[in-house]
Amino acid sequence: MQIVLLGTAAGGGFPQWNCWCPACRTARSDPSRALPRSQSAAAVSADGERWFLLNASPDVHAQVARLPGRAPAGARGSPVEGVVLTDAELDHTLGIVLLREARFLQLAATAAVREILAEDSGLLRVTSAFAEVRIQDLIPGRPAPLAYRDGCPSGLTVTPFPVPAGPPRFARADHPGHTVGLVLRDAATGGVAAFAPGCGGFDPEVEAALGPAELVLFDGTFWHDDELIRLGISDRTARQMDHLPVSGPGGSLERLARLPARTRVYTHINNTNPMLLEDSPERAEVERHGLRVGADGMRFSL
Ligand code: MLT
Ligand code: MN
Ligand code: ZN
Repeated sequence: MQIVLLGTAAGGGFPQWNCWCPACRTARSDPSRALPRSQSAAAVSADGERWFLLNASPDVHAQVARLPGRAPAGARGSPVEGVVLTDAELDHTLGIVLLREARFLQLAATAAVREILAEDSGLLRVTSAFAEVRIQDLIPGRPAPLAYRDGCPSGLTVTPFPVPAGPPRFARADHPGHTVGLVLRDAATGGVAAFAPGCGGFDPEVEAALGPAELVLFDGTFWHDDELIRLGISDRTARQMDHLPVSGPGGSLERLARLPARTRVYTHINNTNPMLLEDSPERAEVERHGLRVGADGMRFSL
C-alpha cells in the first residue's frame, strides 16, 4: 500500500490568501524556511497507479496532477478511482464538485456525511448534475472494501472510526458519524495506516483505532489551544474548534509519542501553527518526540 500526502495545510492553505500571521509572512518572504502547502488531502493505492483520494480539497486539480501513474491510452483518464471522505467540511469536500468532469465518480462516506453533502452544502446535487455519483456507505467500525471503477477489488479496506468533533457549522443536524478517522488496510501486504486529519480529542476509541497502525497521519491544526486568540484572529480555542492542540498537557504530541506506530506524521496544519517553520523550536520539539511535520508530496509504503 502506498500513501501520499497530497495537501498538508488546513482549510485556506499555507500561506493563506488573506493571512499575515508570522508563519504566513515567512512562507511568502522565505519559502525555504516555511514550505508552502496545499489544503488537506491524501491518497492511497495498492498498485501505485490507481488511487483513492482521502478527501477532495479545493486544490484537487494540482494534487491529482502530482499522483504517480502512467498516462492513459485514450483521450480521457485519471488515476483517481474514488474518493473516501472523513467529513463534510468544505476543505475536504469542495474538490468533489471540481471532479465533475468525471463521468462516474465513486465516493465512500458515512450516512451522516452523505446527508450533509446532500442537504446542507448541496455539493452532491450540484456534482450529480454533471456526473454519475455513486456513494458507498461507510459504517463506523466496519471494514469496507475499496473497489476500482470497473468493480474489481483493490485489496484495500477502509474502516472508519468516530472521533470527538462537532459537525460542520453549516450542518443542520448533529448525527453520529459526521466526522471520522480512517484505518486503511492492505490485504496483500498486511500494512495498516490510520488517517485522522480532524480530531477534537484523544479518547479510548481513537487510541484503540490508532493502536494497530504502523503509519499514523494525524490532525496537526494548532500548536496552542489559544493560538487564534493570541493572534487576535478568533475568540475560539482549538478544542472549541474540534482540533486537539499539538502542545500542552493532554495535547496530541504527548499522546501520539506513546503510540507503537513506527511513523507518526502531522497533517491538516493550520497556517498559524509555528511548527510549520523549519527552524522553529516547535518543529524541533515535534521531532524530538519522534514525530514528523507533514509536507505535500511525502510518500509512505507499507
Ligand atoms: C476545520 O478543520 O475545522 C474545518 O475545515 C473548518 C473550516 O475551515 O471551515
Ligand atoms: Mn479543516
Ligand atoms: Zn497565517
